[in-house]
Amino acid sequence: MAKLPIVLLPDPVLRQPSAAVENVDDDVRRLIDDMLETMYAAPGVGLAAVQVGVPRRVLVLDVSDKDDEQSPIVMINPEIVSLSGEPRVHEEGCLSIPDVRIEIERPGSATVRYLDRHGARQELVADGLLATALQHEMDHLDGKLIIDFLTRLKRDMIVRRFRKQAKDGPTV
Ligand code: NI
Repeated sequence: MAKLPIVLLPDPVLRQPSAAVENVDDDVRRLIDDMLETMYAAPGVGLAAVQVGVPRRVLVLDVSDKDDEQSPIVMINPEIVSLSGEPRVHEEGCLSIPDVRIEIERPGSATVRYLDRHGARQELVADGLLATALQHEMDHLDGKLIIDFLTRLKRDMIVRRFRKQAKDGPTV
């Protein structure tokens, strides 16, 4: 496994819709393992393949407590079947937009169908933080980011800040 560099705003790949995975093969499984290592190292609760520069419909999640055992969830070609439940508000962050947190309201429950790492069909009902994280990562697959929930003015301010940081190089 290898830790991969995480793509940061305003890299245009983050706006690219991800393509479906045709075959769940060893290359895809290697990508998944690298994504898990990258997510745990960050640390984060979710990561989409596009965030490591691979615009394919693959995501990894783990919302378990950091003191508990890891419980990774891997989804290939995920599709939301239904959204329901009381809306849930959460202050979301994104590994591609460090140090920005945005309060976002999303449906509190999500049913999703996907392929697992062996290519087998699975269905999962997600609630709580998992429902939020899942919808956040699904947005990545369509090129959507948490800053899209802001007004245009606020969004542009954040994009400008990251554009400047990318140009000036990282501040240490
Ligand atoms: Ni994100």
